[in-house]
Amino acid sequence: MTARMLTLAALLAVFEAISATGTHRGPSMPGSPQNISRNDPTLQKLVFAAAAAFNNQSNDAFLFKPADVIRAQKQIVKGVRFIVDFKISRTVCRKRDHSSDLSACDFQPAGRLQLTLECHLEVWTVPWTHQNSTQKFLCR
Ligand SMILES: *[C@@H]1O[C@H](CO)[C@@H](O)[C@H](O)[C@H]1NC(C)=O
Ligand SMILES: *[C@@H]1O[C@H](CO)[C@@H](O)[C@H](O)[C@H]1NC(C)=O
Ligand SMILES: *[C@@H]1O[C@H](CO)[C@@H](O)[C@H](O)[C@H]1NC(C)=O
Repeated sequence: MTARMLTLAALLAVFEAISATGTHRGPSMPGSPQNISRNDPTLQKLVFAAAAAFNNQSNDAFLFKPADVIRAQKQIVKGVRFIVDFKISRTVCRKRDHSSDLSACDFQPAGRLQLTLECHLEVWTVPWTHQNSTQKFLCR
């Protein structure tokens, strides 16, 4: 747990240390963003975690859950940067029912409570340190 709380500065220090070892193989070669499958398992996990973070911060009475991935890219840059545009929709699960398993929550049926937001997420994952850092996350 505490390892996950490393600051970005500490992460950068780790990268510098890795770069300094002089192994410039695949992971350290910067590339341009490439489209990836919307079903990429890592991507799915990141999107789900982002929805959970959204729920954690929202004032909504209901939980939101990922509805659709619009665009997904990844970029190799000292790890892997994921760039995702996706939709989250309001479910029928109430936030105050803490036991709710988000993946089992159904979307709101058509009507007054139905709401979908569009989100933009950029997460930098560093597989060899098991660190992720969210660089951008915005839903509207
Ligand atoms: C980081 O992302 C990976 C997917 O690349 C996921 O399996 C892992 O749980 C995430 N770790 C944290 C600390 O969020
Ligand atoms: C939820 O919010 C609390 C307080 O803002 C924070 O400490 C915690 O890490 C958040 N959890 C998630 C999963 O984002
Ligand atoms: C990448 O995906 C987006 C959205 O699905 C699409 O509009 C775009 O043409 C794709 N680009 C390439 C190079 O395939």
